[in-house]
Amino acid sequence: MNKDIVWHEHAIDKAARAEQKGHKAFLLWFTGLSGSGKSTIAGALEQELFRRGVHTYLLDGDNVRHGLCKGLGFSTEDRQENLRRVGEAAKLMVDAGLVVLAAFVSPYRADRDAIRALFPQGEFVEVFVDTPLAECEQRDPKGLYKKARAGEIKHFTGIDDPYEAPAQPEVHIHNHGRSVDEAVAELLTQLQARGLLS
Ligand code: PPS
Repeated sequence: MNKDIVWHEHAIDKAARAEQKGHKAFLLWFTGLSGSGKSTIAGALEQELFRRGVHTYLLDGDNVRHGLCKGLGFSTEDRQENLRRVGEAAKLMVDAGLVVLAAFVSPYRADRDAIRALFPQGEFVEVFVDTPLAECEQRDPKGLYKKARAGEIKHFTGIDDPYEAPAQPEVHIHNHGRSVDEAVAELLTQLQARGLLS
């Protein structure tokens, strides 16, 4: 870092923001295969939190690739840069007092751990949306698995690119044969147990 660039402390701190908003700020990081249900569960949880008056924002892989991460592809390096940018953006949002939900394939453990390292203990909650590849492939909501199997898409996670499952996620959602409502209920219970929600 250039020594002429100096960090400025802000007058409004985390505790003041939490008091104003009436809740803590933290990042919920959803990881899982394409089609595993990350975005669906994160979206449903966000709606429930919003309904309860929690100040939220949802960052989603497909959406940020239209702007903040436009032009990045799916090589290991591009995924790393994609997630680095998202992690930094999420950190700013958490600093601003929001509960941020981020739904990204984020297949490499090192990339997820680099984001975790940006946050104090307890403010990064890793949620593994664990759906078997066969089930994701059967759902294939965007027809991408079919294209990947046909060789029309290269480096597709789970097909010809790796997915490194979290070893110790804070929340492990076994999302095979479960409803979205059940997954949301489990997440709410976990967040309350961790003192992140009242
Ligand atoms: S990553 O790995 O975290 O940077 O990926 P992410 O930004 O979450 O983007 C994943 C969505 O992009 C579509 N897509 C691919 N996914 C995985 N591998 C390859 N090669 C690929 N190409 C396109 C896919 O629809 C993912 O969306 P979801 O919502 O996860 O299904």
